[in-house]
Amino acid sequence: MRRIDQIEPFRVMQLLERAKQLEAEGRRIVHLEIGEPDFPTPPPVLEAARKWLDTGDLFYTPSTGAPALQTALSAWYNQEYDIDVAPERILITPGTSGAFSLIYAVLLEAGESVLLSDPGYPCQRNFIRLAGGEPVNIPVGPESRYHLSADLIHQHWRPNSRAAVLINPSNPTGTLIEPRAFADITTTCRELGGYLISDEIYHGLTYGTRARCALEFVQHAIVVNGFSKRWAMTGWRIGWVIVPESLIDACRRVMQNIFIAAPTLSQHAAIAALNCAQETESMRLAYDERRCFLLKKLPELGFDIVIEPQGGFYIYANVKNITSHARDFCRDLLEQAGVAVTPGEDFGSFQANEHVRFSYATGMDDIREGIRRIGAYLSGD
Ligand SMILES: Cc1ncc(COP(=O)(O)O)c(C=O)c1O
Repeated sequence: MRRIDQIEPFRVMQLLERAKQLEAEGRRIVHLEIGEPDFPTPPPVLEAARKWLDTGDLFYTPSTGAPALQTALSAWYNQEYDIDVAPERILITPGTSGAFSLIYAVLLEAGESVLLSDPGYPCQRNFIRLAGGEPVNIPVGPESRYHLSADLIHQHWRPNSRAAVLINPSNPTGTLIEPRAFADITTTCRELGGYLISDEIYHGLTYGTRARCALEFVQHAIVVNGFSKRWAMTGWRIGWVIVPESLIDACRRVMQNIFIAAPTLSQHAAIAALNCAQETESMRLAYDERRCFLLKKLPELGFDIVIEPQGGFYIYANVKNITSHARDFCRDLLEQAGVAVTPGEDFGSFQANEHVRFSYATGMDDIREGIRRIGAYLSGD
């Protein structure tokens, strides 16, 4: 099969398109499917962007990023995690999506494999395939809090494996890995001679606990993060990746070729985002209120939440008590009740038909209405 034929669509976007179609026909749809913050960009970021526009400096930055942002991020790691990261190891990318295309282009030769959790963020396997690599999807469940474990990595590692990916907090499950299990994974990857790639895009969106950065355990990890979620800046297309020093030169060469540099305006606005602790905290508190509401209401409707999610803005629920076909259930829920929820199959194949993902990146009024509609649908009203 040609490489491009292996690339699956990002199905949640297709679901969104159908929901928009229904809205165009006059239906009011409750969106519990989208993984995009419903909050606007924090005002100090907009202010910084306006000021930067006035300077007129909208030329390319160096490929690895505006030095001022690299330095600000380095200071931020010190504040946030109490770790030292040299600014030149922090490479600025067009979203974390840009970071993933970059690192797989740098790490993978044709046919080399990368270990992923199933369920997991669906774009990962396609980034790997586009770089000529092979994703190894490893079924995970509640026993490892839906994360890869050191044992699973040992079991599935092949001579041609290059890396294992951890998404913590997880999309789609919102669960965090235990620090002990995290430490074991970092050691295992190192012993096997591979990289741990840690996707930390949902850091800062945790409830009652904090997420650990992979670099708190080991300097050799590759850490990916960005401004889309915690700072509600999806459309600014800005993220970063921290790489070991030995990879900087290869990354720079790839960056010079594939995107030249991340957007200049976004890079300078992002510096202001790092000082928006108050704004991000009020968003976090709002997410937590929604999370607590759903954690109470969904089980009353028959959804089984096996592990309480403590991060991101997702709840991954088992629907065995309601249906044996999550995909059909989600389709009917959208068409008949006007509530969009993502079926498990978007995130892999393991027990996919038994699960759905709820996103609470939507306002409390809509969440209440969604619950009311799902309740009415299930009781046949
Ligand atoms: C786990 C995870 N990683 C990466 C991304 C991509 O984010 P962006 O490219 O906007 O930084 C997403 C988006 O939903 C995500 O859920």
